Amino acid sequence: MDDQNRKQVKIVLAGAGGYGAHYAADLLNRRQENVQLAAVADPIARRSPVWQQISQIPCYDDLETCLEQVKADAVIVSSPIQYHKQQVATALEHGAQVLCEKPLCATLEQGKKVVSLSEQTGLHVAVGFQWSFHPVILAAKKDVINGLYGKPETFRTIVHWPRSLAYYQRNNWAGRLRDSAGLPVYDSVINNATAHYLHNMLFFLGQSPDEAAMPDQIEGRLWRGQPIENYDTAFVKMKKDLPDQKPVELLMIASHSGEQERLPQIEMRFSQGRLYMEGAKLIGERYAESASGVSEIINYGLTQGGEDVARKTDALIRAVLYNEKPVCHARTACPHLAVIDWLQKHCFIEQIPQSRISVKEEQGSKWYYMPGLDQLIDQLADTFQLPDGFS
Ligand SMILES: NC(=O)c1ccc[n+]([C@@H]2O[C@H](COP(=O)([O-])OP(=O)(O)OC[C@H]3O[C@@H](n4cnc5c(N)ncnc54)[C@H](O)[C@@H]3O)[C@@H](O)[C@H]2O)c1
Repeated sequence: MDDQNRKQVKIVLAGAGGYGAHYAADLLNRRQENVQLAAVADPIARRSPVWQQISQIPCYDDLETCLEQVKADAVIVSSPIQYHKQQVATALEHGAQVLCEKPLCATLEQGKKVVSLSEQTGLHVAVGFQWSFHPVILAAKKDVINGLYGKPETFRTIVHWPRSLAYYQRNNWAGRLRDSAGLPVYDSVINNATAHYLHNMLFFLGQSPDEAAMPDQIEGRLWRGQPIENYDTAFVKMKKDLPDQKPVELLMIASHSGEQERLPQIEMRFSQGRLYMEGAKLIGERYAESASGVSEIINYGLTQGGEDVARKTDALIRAVLYNEKPVCHARTACPHLAVIDWLQKHCFIEQIPQSRISVKEEQGSKWYYMPGLDQLIDQLADTFQLPDGFS
């Protein structure tokens, strides 16, 4: 940011360990003259990997007390999911612009309250789906909105990301339906590690740069192979009705109970082309007009990189300085939340039979996996089908 005359931006960080440590490090390491990490709210901040760096900064056990003591222009909420709604509301009540980590909240009802609080106060709530702040994604979305690829037809995202028991034991809320105080959490494979990819498909279907599409139909199968409360494998089919065309079909399959880690497979097909990931690169292909013609290939560039956190923080700072609306805000994040909420309410979580689960020891932890699941996922992805159950 290059504006020399701007005011001081005082930021409070709720949740300084886990992913929040990246926000603390970004704010401290970039040393932007007018930006200050003014305080931290975290009941166990001492366990943060950046504790040495933040130990001189005022630290509070809870956000409410913190904001009564420290006048903040902006609050970053990077705490466990069950606290997002209350902490975003607290920040807005104290007049702060907000960046909340994904998912927006634990339930759709909470998410809707945040949307209305944001609209009532006139303060922004950015939501930390980093791809939605990425110039590569935004350039491709602009081309989609401008009709470069024609009408959307089928979108598909497949994520094979095995996770160990250590992943679920890293805190006291991973894989939980509710926490020990009874607060809804609904942490799952598509609400946490692969949430970005589900949101991304809905974001690309949005009719304007800051909109994501709400599916009109949802169908799902949820499986559990890990020793957790919620599901670790999700098969989700969605449909979106659009005027003057067949409904767009979307398929999201993501699992932490497969055997082999692979890069996410992402393909969005349109009437006149497609977008797909080739490794970490986003590629567009516009079909030739005649069968003998050559397709045009557009390389949008790499979607990975170290600037994800900085881009989100900068969007928050621009909200403070210029009242700029973040490209991914509370309303943009609601379709993702709606899908998660619908699945939790309407789908039975099926236990993968113990006879189908194997366990291996690697990297000092146990890995539960279902042999053959990777192949089953690939077959279903090819045919756009949901699986049968185990009984
Ligand atoms: N955008 C991304 O790529 C990304 C990656 C990881 C996590 N996240 C999101 O970040 C959030 C936090 O996840 P995590 O994996 O870092 O969790 P974590 O449990 O590892 O860390 C959470 C931090 O919040 C603190 N905390 C606990 N209760 C708190 C409270 N009441 N108030 C303030 N702080 C509190 C903990 O002490 C800890 O420092 C989640 O919403 C998660 O989905 C986003």
